[in-house]
Amino acid sequence: MSAADKTLVRIHVNGEWREATVEPRTLLVEFLRDHLNLTGTHIGCDTTYCGACTVLLNGRTVKSCTLFAPMADGAEITTVEGLSSNGALHPVQQAFAECHGLQCGFCTPGLLISTLHLLSKTANPTDTQIRKALAGNTCRCTGYQNIFKAVRMAVGLMEKR
Ligand code: FES
Ligand code: FES
Repeated sequence: MSAADKTLVRIHVNGEWREATVEPRTLLVEFLRDHLNLTGTHIGCDTTYCGACTVLLNGRTVKSCTLFAPMADGAEITTVEGLSSNGALHPVQQAFAECHGLQCGFCTPGLLISTLHLLSKTANPTDTQIRKALAGNTCRCTGYQNIFKAVRMAVGLMEKR
């Protein structure tokens, strides 16, 4: 593909404008990882199933392997790298760490983003709302009980903010 066939994509990622010129078929997850070096967003499947690639796009969760980067041109994106500030963990990250809400950690970035989205919409979710919010995120280490506890702890930590 010649340079003329490539397209400039500009995205507001974690509070700053980032851009790269890419092939139009570039997936958003590839754009984030390979062109912006934001490798916290993971690729765990090729069937849009696992949710390891979840990011916030204009305030909504999306699986970043399911859309092309040019489709996100001009959008606001939050990746897992955008959660901590000045070296301090976000309450959601802190809760996952304290509750051992991870084992290998591969699914964790997506779960953190889905949890953040849930708590931004519903400050004190029911158990059913938590399960529904995380239904698109698969943990192959299957440690779901501690993930669930972590979300509950995050609710408390967010209230104290
Ligand atoms: S890598 Fe996107 S859903 Fe699995
Ligand atoms: S902690 Fe290993 S896949 Fe979830």
